[in-house]
Amino acid sequence: MSIERIDAATRDLPAPLAAVDMADLMTNADDLVRRADGLPIRIATKSVRCREVLRRTLALPGFGGLMAYSLSEALWLVRGGFTDVLVAYPSVDAVAFHDLAHDEVAAREITIVVDDPQHLKVIARAVGEDARPIRVCLDIDSSLRVAGVHLGVRRSPVHTLENAVNAARGILAEPSVHLVGLMFYDAQLAGIQDSSPAVRAMKRRSANELRERRARIVRAVRDLTDLEFVNGGGTGSLTMVSGDEGLTELAAGSGLYGPTLFDGYRDFRPEPAFAYALPVTRRPSARVRTLFGGGYVASGPAGKSRVPTAVLPAGLSELGAEGVGEVQTPVSGDAAGDLNVGDRVWWRHPKAGEVCERFATLHLVEDVGSDGTQAVVTSVPTYRGEGKCFG
Ligand SMILES: Cc1ncc(COP(=O)(O)O)c(C=O)c1O
Repeated sequence: MSIERIDAATRDLPAPLAAVDMADLMTNADDLVRRADGLPIRIATKSVRCREVLRRTLALPGFGGLMAYSLSEALWLVRGGFTDVLVAYPSVDAVAFHDLAHDEVAAREITIVVDDPQHLKVIARAVGEDARPIRVCLDIDSSLRVAGVHLGVRRSPVHTLENAVNAARGILAEPSVHLVGLMFYDAQLAGIQDSSPAVRAMKRRSANELRERRARIVRAVRDLTDLEFVNGGGTGSLTMVSGDEGLTELAAGSGLYGPTLFDGYRDFRPEPAFAYALPVTRRPSARVRTLFGGGYVASGPAGKSRVPTAVLPAGLSELGAEGVGEVQTPVSGDAAGDLNVGDRVWWRHPKAGEVCERFATLHLVEDVGSDGTQAVVTSVPTYRGEGKCFG
């Protein structure tokens, strides 16, 4: 099991520490490529948040381009040598738009999503006259709407064929932007575990509806202008969408680290490649040990699914009264009594890159030698470790 391998390889390093088993990450990357079924995968940077891991993954066949989450992040990435960066969330950062329009390389390599005439106004105002047009991608709402119920995330208002054609016409009429792509992110397929037959039925229905609507929208927008790409999917939906007409590329990131969110999917199960260790610092009673750090709850609707899971030693859990704490996390369980001050407990996070905001360094553990028993550890900075925090 990878976490035991990580534990052995990092034994002499001070904890708290975060580590990635690179053999498992490569297995996960291969599986994403297999599920993408021939379409290139754009890597979702928010789910990785480490430039070295992005570089290594981009070097693998089947991956191409980055999907960033902030415009200033995209500028930083391109200035650091990355190319083909799609910012998948709109920005109102006038300074960053100004920088983008006045940097020849960035203006060529960065595309940003829009879905509202107000986004176009922000851009036009920020870049001024005579600037290079900003490359934009129209984000199409990929949720399922049935009987007045909205199943999916609340992002783009552009849902129907008519909405999409009107939005594309609006973009084409605006000289400060250049329409180069479409994006369809199916959060209700990618981000929801296959927890019951009803959920699986909803996902099937949504995938069918989206397949048909997407094909019509892509054809209609392509009649108006040439598109360089049509992006769709995420780690949790690659298999459902990879064969869809009109898509030229997919997006995925979190499947590389294999967080606990993906323990509940039916058609794939990534290896837990990413884990972090907290040291035991106190022994408040015979069956309880208190660890340093640990309060790294994931974003999203508050609840059990957002709480990290102790995985090694097995059978430990946080206490209901304290949970994972701001600077200390008590755990109890059969194995707790055997833990001494200085021992470590390993955890997995519910989400992928988010927890990198808590660690300046990632320790990449790789097997060397023909028998794979000897491990080397390369310590690299996370975004946070490079002094970068994009929200
Ligand atoms: C636009 C978009 N595409 C794709 C993804 C999928 O990312 P991941 O594969 O890291 O879950 C996300 C995640 O939120 C997203 O917002």
